[in-house]
Amino acid sequence: MFQDITAQIADFDLLPYLTTVLGVTSIAVTIGWRWWKQKNTYNKSLQSLPSPPKHWLLGNLPQVLAAVKQKKLFRQLFDWSQQLGPMYVIWNGNNPGVILSKPKVIEDTIVNGMKDGSLIRSEQLRKAWNDISSPILIGETGAQWQWRRKAWNPEFSSSSLLKYGEIISSACLQVIEILKEAASPKEVMVDPLFVELTMRVICCLLLGIPVDRNSTSHEGPPLEVPKVYEAMSTLGYRFLRQATGEKIWMKYLPSKNSRDYWAARRYLERFLTPRVDLALRLRDQNQPDLPQVSPLFRESMLVKIAAKEPKYNRKTLIAESVLFLIAGTDTTAHTLSFALGELSLNQRVFQQARDIVDSCWQSFDCINTESLKKLAYIRAIIKETLRLYSVASGSTSLEAQRDTVIEGQVIPRGTRVSWSMLAAGRDPEVYPHPEEFLPERWLDKSKETSSLPMIDFGSGLHRCLGEHLSMLEATIMLALLLRYFDWELVNGRSSLEQLQQNLLIYPSDQMPVRFHLRNSLSQQKNYL
Ligand code: HEM
Repeated sequence: MFQDITAQIADFDLLPYLTTVLGVTSIAVTIGWRWWKQKNTYNKSLQSLPSPPKHWLLGNLPQVLAAVKQKKLFRQLFDWSQQLGPMYVIWNGNNPGVILSKPKVIEDTIVNGMKDGSLIRSEQLRKAWNDISSPILIGETGAQWQWRRKAWNPEFSSSSLLKYGEIISSACLQVIEILKEAASPKEVMVDPLFVELTMRVICCLLLGIPVDRNSTSHEGPPLEVPKVYEAMSTLGYRFLRQATGEKIWMKYLPSKNSRDYWAARRYLERFLTPRVDLALRLRDQNQPDLPQVSPLFRESMLVKIAAKEPKYNRKTLIAESVLFLIAGTDTTAHTLSFALGELSLNQRVFQQARDIVDSCWQSFDCINTESLKKLAYIRAIIKETLRLYSVASGSTSLEAQRDTVIEGQVIPRGTRVSWSMLAAGRDPEVYPHPEEFLPERWLDKSKETSSLPMIDFGSGLHRCLGEHLSMLEATIMLALLLRYFDWELVNGRSSLEQLQQNLLIYPSDQMPVRFHLRNSLSQQKNYL
């Protein structure tokens, strides 16, 4: 009988046909079984959580992708948090993502989950980060993350950074000079101005490029701020699209997006490669014919890291430098723009900050390491700005490595856990009068301590590496602006309301501001 069937199959040449049918059926059965199993597992444990209305097959993916396209993802998550409460689920097809919006729950979840290994950086986000160029610190986890973080930690500690005070201060003074030329009263788009500031600072610290706009560096191509910024923005926006569903292989499609991605990568690689190569040659002491290098380059983080950590090679150092350019620029720049905006709309806070800065000048005649200690109120202004405009909202999410419990809710293995920083920052139970700009909430009896959760730099092991740099830079810049200028927002409150998200959240009108130079303050000492 069996022989008969085989003979018939051979006669009618059915073998290829049957193989195809069998193959297709088994793939369909496997997908269907996995879909069914996933649906039932998750449905069981996550069904008690609210969720926005969803498509039967795609889940909430269409809403998420539309929000990313409109550059409003942060807003969508915030709106859902307002409608659905502090813990809800969004579905990427059949895959759930839990969104949290209680500050303390977010903090505890990150800290404890990472400590006991139940939560690690999500695979999708890691892939998206690492595809910006090649594996980088923020895209890694476990041992691969550990050696990278260990290498960079000392460079970014608050004590190490103080030695850069003079560099940061002279970059900030360049901004003051530009504004002096423009002032009385002229409109200035402050956001691009702060982007230039922060990019010059990180390029100086990392790559040894002088902050002075008119100086050149011989170790590689000149820093062309608009071009570097455009390339970074292209890569940053692509990261967000991938983190929310776009596939990695789409970069090979013949589309405008792919062409822009490759052009941005090539541009940044051309900018960085000569400096990375030189840093690697300096690591190898026995290299003959080393070119003359500037003391600034020799002292740069790039040279130090290359010398310290032999695991870094050309490819990974280029990729890491791209990360630091991205992480070190927009974050602080947009935060400064939002702080300027809030100060102009809150005259009481403005005046209090101004009085503190003026009294620093009376005591020290400038900003220096000592006077910085007196500027706790300015740092509180930056924290309060981040509470309301958490620029890095959406840059991270975690993934459950095993079934885990958050706020009494079982979160099954494989679930993504994420948060709405915007909703967390406006939680009235934690931050009373959340819509008001009240820097005092971050000061305990005027001391620089507070029991409030400050989660905008992340939490736990992966907390932001550049936090101290960012605070130092923003403090010096704000203090100098308060010392020299009065200002007002050209578009009023709308500059703080019309926000968009590329990778980070920014003011869509670039924040036009009218500056007025304070009388009798043109010639002063600034930093010692
Ligand atoms: C207002 C300014 C900034 C904000 C709000 C911010 C926020 C964040 C957040 C939320 C994370 C994710 C932490 C996590 O995964 O849990 C992060 C990580 C990181 N940030 Fe920042 N950041 C800022 C400035 C900077 C600056 C100036 C630099 C460097 C020059 C920097 C470098 C990094 C790096 C390298 C990581 C990855 C850390 C790790 O994976 O261990 N950031 N930042």
